[in-house]
Amino acid sequence: MNAAAPASTSAFIEAASPHVMNTYGRLPIALSHGQGCRVWDVNGKSYLDGLGGIAVNTLGHNHPRLVPALQDQIGKIIHSSNYYHVPGQEVLAAKLVELSGLTNVFFCCTGLEANEAALKLARKFGHDRGIERPEIVVYEKAFHGRSIATLSATGNAKVQAGFGPLVEGFIRVPLNDIEALKKATAGNPNVVAVFFETIQGEGGINPMRVDYLQQVRKLCDEQNWLMMVDEVQCGMGRTGKWFAHQWAGILPDVMPLAKGLGSGVPIGAVVAGPRAANIFQPGNHGTTFGGNPLAMRAGIETIRIMEEDGLIANASKVGAHLKAALERELAGVDGFHEVRGQGLMLGVDLTKPCGALVQRACDKGRPISVTADTVVRLVPPLILTTAEADEIVDILVPLIKQFLSE
Ligand SMILES: Cc1ncc(COP(=O)(O)O)c(C=O)c1O
Repeated sequence: MNAAAPASTSAFIEAASPHVMNTYGRLPIALSHGQGCRVWDVNGKSYLDGLGGIAVNTLGHNHPRLVPALQDQIGKIIHSSNYYHVPGQEVLAAKLVELSGLTNVFFCCTGLEANEAALKLARKFGHDRGIERPEIVVYEKAFHGRSIATLSATGNAKVQAGFGPLVEGFIRVPLNDIEALKKATAGNPNVVAVFFETIQGEGGINPMRVDYLQQVRKLCDEQNWLMMVDEVQCGMGRTGKWFAHQWAGILPDVMPLAKGLGSGVPIGAVVAGPRAANIFQPGNHGTTFGGNPLAMRAGIETIRIMEEDGLIANASKVGAHLKAALERELAGVDGFHEVRGQGLMLGVDLTKPCGALVQRACDKGRPISVTADTVVRLVPPLILTTAEADEIVDILVPLIKQFLSE
């Protein structure tokens, strides 16, 4: 499958758009279509997609069962409004409840909206208990989104710069340090929740350790705090379990989801357990688009296909293969630090800033991203095969080696 680009399209890409706001440092590429894990740009060049729309395209591109299901839904009803019941919300919520062990779901459209809803839940949880100035524990290097509240929860000065005053009520702690968490919250009656990514994505693929997750769960139980896990990037099967915290055998109280849940159709969800499920009452929270029939169908079909095709097991298997290959090929190379992450959420940490690799990898047909300056991030579709993983390694490793030798 290959489409020739109209000449005018490539000319358009070379010139910066005068009309779209200048919010992204974009590569001079526009994708025209995809098939499986491969995408083609408007000039006909093909790429093996190591980025999956930033952990979004769970089923790859043009999936033979997802696309007809979405076409069917579009032909019936795209949007209705939350003035009415949306049957798809009941179906998808029931599925997310079954997979997570939690009890109730609120639907929205993006990751930051899911996190914003989680933050509101935590604050109201406090207010309902008479805490007038609730405080929420958040983490160094965290990324939770770019609304004013979620960028305040984010632990990245670059994301926050220029947008003060930030929202108050956050206490920031380092990762994987239970004593630091206890010390930062000691004797503070206003703490209501601990909020973190089970594996930090934008912060450089930094996993929370299993024993740390278990200790946080215990502390939240002892203190009557909500444990809120942002699984927007690491959830939905990417790590080889439906949700990354499940590796620790714990249940959170609140879990925001988005990205991979709709395989490309915008969708977000906040899944809550018994302690958080009834905090919102009619009028406390809402959204126009959230939970619309098209997004619900995308979520339902994505999960159905993941189950039918064993994509969780595939993420585990191909992810382990990819990680082992990267570790083997880069072992001993000066400037290579480590490969972090699990399943198909991997970061190759180098000892020097490597943003230049993004363009070079794209030129070679292997789109990647770089996070936290030094980490090459791979979050491909969960349908990636081991042969395709090898194709990524075959191109990426020489590029990294060359870059580190410069
Ligand atoms: C862990 C995490 N939370 C929240 C967000 C924000 O999601 P969105 O861009 O859909 O608002 C992101 C996006 O990268 C993320 O990785």
